[in-house]
Amino acid sequence: MKGIVLAGGRGTRLLPVTLAVSKQLLPVNDKPLVYFPLSVLMLAGVRDILIITTPADMPQLERLLGDGSHLGLSITYAGQPEPNGIAEALIIGAEHIGGGPVALVLGDNVFHGHNFQELLRRECSRVDGCVLFGHPVRDPHRYGIAEAGHDGRLLSIEEKPARPRSNQAVVGLYLYDGDAVDIAKNLTPSARGELEITDVNRAYLERGKAKLVNLGRGFAWLDAGTPESLLQASQYVQLLEQRQGVRIACLEEIALRMGYIGADDCRRLGVALGASAYGQYVITVAEQFGNTQQEERS
Ligand code: G1P
Repeated sequence: MKGIVLAGGRGTRLLPVTLAVSKQLLPVNDKPLVYFPLSVLMLAGVRDILIITTPADMPQLERLLGDGSHLGLSITYAGQPEPNGIAEALIIGAEHIGGGPVALVLGDNVFHGHNFQELLRRECSRVDGCVLFGHPVRDPHRYGIAEAGHDGRLLSIEEKPARPRSNQAVVGLYLYDGDAVDIAKNLTPSARGELEITDVNRAYLERGKAKLVNLGRGFAWLDAGTPESLLQASQYVQLLEQRQGVRIACLEEIALRMGYIGADDCRRLGVALGASAYGQYVITVAEQFGNTQQEERS
């Protein structure tokens, strides 16, 4: 399965912070926001990833993530010059997707929850149509809103409805089979002039091939598109990291635990960042992992 991170947009709700810096590069506590959606793809076992960004922001994202080989990934980049909607990512990424299944994740979405990796791997292994993930929200008029039957079959989906039929928001992670690109190419722009991802999802619904997986209330889903939500995401991550001594969305650690890189590679990555607590954490994780492996061998 191929992956796409959509890190486009002008971040207008964060101006003036985003005048000179991409929203996805802003810090969520100890790491750039884009680490969070990237970590989701990595946990799902997706290693061939296209990052779509504005042409202006591309050099900085490339400086941060390079070709991904240090993390055992292949990362390439494509530009979205105008914010023409999330579904345009499927058209821009058509060649990368290559007719197969794809996981599309929004660059400003933060996910955290128990057993997320197992859930992702299970759903990614059996995509027939589209798989969406729902999470309850207090302000449903701000999101794509879905209703599903007991069996998880999607019954309705609306983008930012004035009168929401449920409080289940569709989070910014979408799994599609090989039809998504053609569906996106046949969309007409919405009233706000965008190719809406909700219209792609509705096309799957009309074919009877759309599923909604409820992430449940024990899960945390945050978006970080406003000063308040960005700060809240930082506070959430900081609280858990400080309390538990583990780091969320630490890409080096995930690459190590997923078997994408070895303990020595991971340690080297940590040393390069060693002046920060994040870097020290990566070194510790690599050393502990290396020791455990040695014990297992002897
Ligand atoms: C977009 C989607 C919406 C989804 C949300 C998740 O909204 O259009 O369906 O619920 O992302 O973050 P936007 O953030 O672009 O307003």
